[in-house]
Amino acid sequence: MNNKVTARAHTNIALIKYWGKKNQELIIPTTSSLSLTLDKFFTDTSVIFDENLQNDELTLNNHIITGTALIKTSNFLDIVRKQAGINTPARVESTNHVPTAAGLASSASGFAALAAAASKAAGMDLDRQALSRLARRGSGSASRSIFGGFAEWIAGEDDLTSYAHPIQENVTMDIQMLTVVLDSSEKKIGSRQGMQHAIATSPFYETWLNESAKDLIKIKDAIAHNDLELVGEIAENNALQMHSLNFSAKPGFTYFNGETIRILQIVQNLRKQGILAYATMDAGPNVKIISQSSDTDVICNAIKNDFPTALIEVAKAGPGISYLE
Ligand code: DP6
Repeated sequence: MNNKVTARAHTNIALIKYWGKKNQELIIPTTSSLSLTLDKFFTDTSVIFDENLQNDELTLNNHIITGTALIKTSNFLDIVRKQAGINTPARVESTNHVPTAAGLASSASGFAALAAAASKAAGMDLDRQALSRLARRGSGSASRSIFGGFAEWIAGEDDLTSYAHPIQENVTMDIQMLTVVLDSSEKKIGSRQGMQHAIATSPFYETWLNESAKDLIKIKDAIAHNDLELVGEIAENNALQMHSLNFSAKPGFTYFNGETIRILQIVQNLRKQGILAYATMDAGPNVKIISQSSDTDVICNAIKNDFPTALIEVAKAGPGISYLE
């Protein structure tokens, strides 16, 4: 206690998506999911529990944060305090290393870094499985950012059985994700709200549960066989199925905009030319292109041809949680 601890967590992008909870309080998902942790985007978070504080304090990128973000952080710290048997307020300083306007969700790296820093600062020494379970309580996708490379979040049934584990931390295939940013505005429908609306009203939700389970088995086999093309094919199809749940909800909604569809067409055209390129999208309009390093220029040129101002970031497999200092 009274120790400042700093942790670094990288963001992850799901290849097999998590889209719905069977327990909203504990964040237990309806399906298992699988992701790639990225090297380029990460969050550094420092936590110190300090008896002299009246309340929890939060800064993000050196700005003092109040309101909803502080409440979410305090609620998460309450879980940590309960586990550690303390009730001391904490000061949290977080820096997001996500290039300006990259449009990447930072909740995965944010809660993974917070789980690691806060639990250690509170005097606990959690193993990575316990850290993954703790990070999950902040944001489901954060459970996977404890691990590097390919990680699977096992849905489980309750708090004890729902956690991520590594599938392949030192990635052997030449996989990269080109993040194409055209729209950096805030998403209008948060993922938490969007996924529950899809569960409650999409007539295809049951089908999604079955298809997603099959996709997970197939992609793990493709990873084991270093088959990047098959990984891309399964991931793109899984993402489109997830977004179909939103289209088919009542009322239907989508995170796509016109540019999302255009990028999907460009990716399809690249494939017709023999280029290995597959797309995946999350709770926002921006597209991530799964590809290999030798094709970076040809893919970037194809995008820039239609969207000269597009910001394209190249990310490769990244590491799991680490402590700094
Ligand atoms: C589309 O992990 O942000 O990115 O658990 O409610 O915080 P909460 O949701 P969150 O949802 C991520 C959804 C997704 C798919 C994925 O990462 O698996």
